[in-house]
Amino acid sequence: MAHSLIIFASGRGSNAQAIIDYFKGNGKATVSLIVSNKPDAGVLDIARAEGIPSLVVDRAQFNDVALVAKLREHKPSLIVLAGFLWKIPEHLVQAFPDSMVNIHPALLPRYGGKGMYGHHVHNAVVAAGETESGITVHYVNEVYDSGNIILQARCKVVPGDNADALAARIHRLEHYYFPRAIEFLLDNIN
Ligand code: GRF
Repeated sequence: MAHSLIIFASGRGSNAQAIIDYFKGNGKATVSLIVSNKPDAGVLDIARAEGIPSLVVDRAQFNDVALVAKLREHKPSLIVLAGFLWKIPEHLVQAFPDSMVNIHPALLPRYGGKGMYGHHVHNAVVAAGETESGITVHYVNEVYDSGNIILQARCKVVPGDNADALAARIHRLEHYYFPRAIEFLLDNIN
């Protein structure tokens, strides 16, 4: 029986697409719902193209406990944050203990926390003169970017890199490792 995944995303959805494609290949999971807080998010175009149900939430709906029941209807093995910019409320984290994961485009615990997303992260890494960066897949808890780390992968920061060049290198890591980190978790859910 294939696992059910729910993806939360606010942006383009390239990680969502990578996850969808990866699990099409091995049949271990299907994405049963895509949730976004942005009605115009690119990830919703992906949902439409892939025939995956989607749900757009405003702040009130996102913070309403009624959302838990809606998510539970899909019997998710994991809830996957793939570029979702709102902090997850405590009652939602607690409704899915050790079953909510996030990907952050840097090597936590550095370059994480409120406001550290997308180019803000890469700009900070480049400005600090770091010689490497990478990705972190971690469990979600009530504090931004602070749950137990599941996987990290590293890449070089090349002299002369700007945020765009580093972002492209980071996205390649994300698209390779995030689906595989999810697969590892699914294979080891007892
Ligand atoms: C990724 O860089 C991810 O690390 C961060 O948000 C971005 C989402 O990109 N959490 P996309 O929408 O999956 O293209």
